[in-house]
Amino acid sequence: MVAWHMNSLPIDGPKGLDHLLQGRRWYTHKIFRTCVALAVLLTIPCWLNHRTNIQVDTETAAFGQFTGNWPEVGKISWKSCHPHPPLNNVDCGDIVVPKDYFNPRAGTATIAFARLKSKASLSKGTVFFNPGGPGGSGKSWIAEINPYYIRNMVGEEYDIIGFDPRGVGETVPQTRCFNDGNTGSYANFIRNTVLERGYDVASNMSTAELRSMLLVKTAEADALLRTQFEICRQNMGEELRYMGTSTVVRDLDFMSKIFDGTDAPINLYGLSYGSVLGQYLANMLPDRVGRVVIDGVVDAESWANQPAYLWHRQWIVNSEATYDIFFKTCSEAGPSICSIATVEQEAPDAIKTRLESFIDGLTYQPLSITNSKHPSILTSGRARKFLIDGIYRPSLWPLVATAFAKAMDGDGSAIMDAIGTAGERDLARAAVSCNDQPHFDAPKIEDIVDEQLYTYQNVSRFIFAVANLENADFGCQHWSITPPERFHGPWSHTLKNPILILSNTADPVTPLASGKKVQEQLGNSSRLLVLDGPGHTSIFLPSSCIKEHMNAYFANGRLPPEGTVCSVDLGPFSSQT
Ligand SMILES: *[C@@H]1O[C@H](CO)[C@@H](O)[C@H](O)[C@H]1NC(C)=O
Ligand SMILES: *[C@@H]1O[C@H](CO)[C@@H](O)[C@H](O)[C@H]1NC(C)=O
Ligand SMILES: *[C@@H]1O[C@H](CO)[C@@H](O)[C@H](O)[C@H]1NC(C)=O
Repeated sequence: MVAWHMNSLPIDGPKGLDHLLQGRRWYTHKIFRTCVALAVLLTIPCWLNHRTNIQVDTETAAFGQFTGNWPEVGKISWKSCHPHPPLNNVDCGDIVVPKDYFNPRAGTATIAFARLKSKASLSKGTVFFNPGGPGGSGKSWIAEINPYYIRNMVGEEYDIIGFDPRGVGETVPQTRCFNDGNTGSYANFIRNTVLERGYDVASNMSTAELRSMLLVKTAEADALLRTQFEICRQNMGEELRYMGTSTVVRDLDFMSKIFDGTDAPINLYGLSYGSVLGQYLANMLPDRVGRVVIDGVVDAESWANQPAYLWHRQWIVNSEATYDIFFKTCSEAGPSICSIATVEQEAPDAIKTRLESFIDGLTYQPLSITNSKHPSILTSGRARKFLIDGIYRPSLWPLVATAFAKAMDGDGSAIMDAIGTAGERDLARAAVSCNDQPHFDAPKIEDIVDEQLYTYQNVSRFIFAVANLENADFGCQHWSITPPERFHGPWSHTLKNPILILSNTADPVTPLASGKKVQEQLGNSSRLLVLDGPGHTSIFLPSSCIKEHMNAYFANGRLPPEGTVCSVDLGPFSSQT
């Protein structure tokens, strides 16, 4: 999900917020800055020659028999962590993999990664990391954003590799639909359209008013999505086939064999969309599962089998709960920490009503923004997108509140700067999720709108229902590409090792119910660990309990007792220093 040209499930959201995140997040703070300060530019070009021609048996055996024809497959090139100097103990590189594991004539792909080396003299192997999206760069997480957080959770005995999945970041082929110089940039394409601005909804609109507005805007979104996918097809053609999650699972299998040896199990820590990758991995290659943690769980069965416009009613069932915690903790923190509160102990509902009236008002009178890097107008759709993305990340709630307080004072620049401009990352998201979906008949605009209205009225009233529905996923009926492989289940395999499932009680987009569903599907091959707190995945608020259980799981496979519920050490408005 995502808002600002971001995707629905990203952990790494709009650039503006990411930058705030780097400086302020509780766990990042000092360690991150110190490491950046100490880092030196390092270039280590080298080859792991002894691994170059390793024979890999995939389940299909198709790949193994052609290995000899691909001398470069499996080759690792170490590089500097361009464009940033590497952090301590982090190196970067890329690895050549088969582009299509079923067809050697397709040639090769190159996966970009960053590795945080283990501290132990004898590494227990590699834990691969996926930050979500799809479209999130695992490489930049480990190379630039916060490898030490992941290490803190995984422990010091593993190498941690963040990689850019197919179509994402620096991995080749990249998703480059608009960059051919003729069609103009993607940012231009979607600027000021419904895809970028969201829906301008006011809470006093009647159902009939809402419906007619949604019909017009959804038709516009549908036409834009159809157009952008046609441009992708024209400019990228068959290159788009190789970006689905099933192919990324083959990459994980391949990379694990290269880095850790042919018999080594596959380890993964996946956030948000990374939980989809984790469920595909577990069920496509159940005998290869080592230590796998999925955190912020998306229902992969629905992801792989249902059109995207039907996902939201289930995804956002806990969003109002998260939203209410925002106002409750804001009220407790008071105006010095939460600037949208006006007095100490102000009733949460009073704060909420004031904020919502402000956003409603923008529907009828948008706010001019002249002093942003991106001069524009603040519409209710944009304000709501900013709010939604903020609600995902409780460690940022004080900043979200400050940005809204300024906007309510007439200066919307903080919000606009955070929203930024669109990038092709959204198209990378679509390349993944549309390759994962079966071809289905295009839903009628009326059916999509009925579903939106249902979700708006019966699942999440004000904030979560309408604003997220213009994601690129919703245009997958216009995706005319078929991937080499598309996994649809079953989802209840017995795994070689049990996986650990993490769900928050108040996650606005990956609800506890999805974690419970995966636990039910996998039975004794999994264990659910619950964090009693708000936010999208466990990473935004500190919990020593979560850390302890994750450490134990990675160290020796020990699972938390069934029914374990962890609490957070610090609440959203108390975690700032
Ligand atoms: C909704 O509220 C706005 C002011 O925020 C007002 O201009 C508009 O007329 C109202 N619409 C209805 C249908 O009440
Ligand atoms: C909300 O749910 C009620 C009860 O299930 C149903 O009658 C109503 O049609 C739903 N609203 C929308 C807009 O679908
Ligand atoms: C799961 O494990 C429990 C305890 O070890 C055992 O009693 C139960 O039969 C197992 N269930 C399945 C489906 O294997």
